[in-house]
Amino acid sequence: MPSATPRKREALELFAPLPRHYDRVAAALSFGQDPRWRKAMVEAILAGGEQRVLDVATGTGLVAQSLVRRYGCEVVGLDQSAQMLAAAEARIASDRFLGKRISLMRGEAEHLPFEEEEFDHLTFTYLLRYVDDPGATMIELARVLKPGGRIASLEFFVPPNPAWRALWRLYTHVGLPALGRLVSREWAHTGSFLAKSIPSFYDAYPIERVVALWEQAGIADVHVRPMSLGGGVVMWGTKPGAPPGPDPQAARACGEADIDGDIESA
Ligand SMILES: C[S@@+](CC[C@H](N)C(=O)[O-])C[C@H]1O[C@@H](n2cnc3c(N)ncnc32)[C@H](O)[C@@H]1O
Repeated sequence: MPSATPRKREALELFAPLPRHYDRVAAALSFGQDPRWRKAMVEAILAGGEQRVLDVATGTGLVAQSLVRRYGCEVVGLDQSAQMLAAAEARIASDRFLGKRISLMRGEAEHLPFEEEEFDHLTFTYLLRYVDDPGATMIELARVLKPGGRIASLEFFVPPNPAWRALWRLYTHVGLPALGRLVSREWAHTGSFLAKSIPSFYDAYPIERVVALWEQAGIADVHVRPMSLGGGVVMWGTKPGAPPGPDPQAARACGEADIDGDIESA
């Protein structure tokens, strides 16, 4: 990557050896919760079958696959890791329906190779911890979204409740690297990396600040839904303007009971 900084190089090196076991290990390390979180994020998008969705940080293509299976829409999956994209390529090559609906592209979230307002909706997963400037990245993501389009994200979170937070710290510092060691040296490293990377992101960017970044990027009606007692967080919002598809208010059907821009209790 021409613009690789130390943080970005670290992300490229981190994911290079992970694709082989990624889907199963990611689910196991989150006690089976990660697929549920991904589903909640996809539900918030409410795409139409004829619409085009950009999935940034598509990795092995799990979100792209869920979007197509859920809505029958067209998806462009973008990621900076050639190795993760190769796993996504193998996934879509094994299924003709996915192959017809998903196209993959190597690129960076910070410099999307698309025109303004090209996509009806946009998803991104586990991304903002890996970029140097989360605010500028949010602006870039919002740039390629059509007015009225929805944007949704999934990220790990730190449980707000002190008792759960103490257990979470124990799990991420001891359990996660230990479980990772059972799979491979690289997954052990990933476990240790996450134990530091998640809390240090929220030290710098408490969730209220993340909401503010979305709003500064021009995203309105921002929702925050902590998942699984705060182990994960799904966010979504809308770029103001004429909606390209179903009524955005229907996003509330996703089961949350939050207040706009506020955090639903875990
Ligand atoms: C934890 S994986 C998530 C993969 C997948 N979306 C999922 O649901 O599991 C994070 C992905 O973000 C990608 N990534 C990190 N920083 C990126 C950036 N600046 N631009 C594009 N992709 C990036 C990594 O290569 C990796 O594939």
